[in-house]
Amino acid sequence: MTVIPSRVLCVCLGNICRSPTAEVILKTIAKRNGLQLAVDSAGTSNYHPSVSPDRRSQHHALQHGYDLSALKARQVRDQDFFEFDLILAMDHANLSDLQNWLLRIAPQINKGHSIAKLALMSEHDPIYPLQSVPDPYYGEAHDFERVIHHIESSASAWVRHWKKQT
Ligand code: 4NP
Repeated sequence: MTVIPSRVLCVCLGNICRSPTAEVILKTIAKRNGLQLAVDSAGTSNYHPSVSPDRRSQHHALQHGYDLSALKARQVRDQDFFEFDLILAMDHANLSDLQNWLLRIAPQINKGHSIAKLALMSEHDPIYPLQSVPDPYYGEAHDFERVIHHIESSASAWVRHWKKQT
């Protein structure tokens, strides 16, 4: 894989709170910094197929200028590991689930296939280093607000990391 990915998948559990927020924030911050990046999101679960992002996530994101309204939830698929360069897990459980998923499909991996690198959203984040983005689903307004700040910080850190490679 090239050092700067061109296709990034953001992953959480339900794909209705954290990962759609990360999809739009990462896309926005990358574009603002002149990086051409295709960004998508998915859930490790299939709890909410084809459902729009949680209205609380949409509300808080919009207050910060991020429009999530066009997105629809989907579950991670096997081919995501072949089609994306980098898969960003919102928390440690998501990362572990993705690592196990990759082990499960290992027999399908042919020589020469390029496989997505798996990492935590906050891998390079100086404010929330290697910390999970906390699941806000059963939380309060401030938990949804915290998701925005955490993801903005982590997405900015990834973009700074990639720009150092150019
Ligand atoms: P997300 O949040 O993983 O950030 O989308 C959740 C959404 C739904 C559920 C759990 C977490 N749920 O249990 O339905």
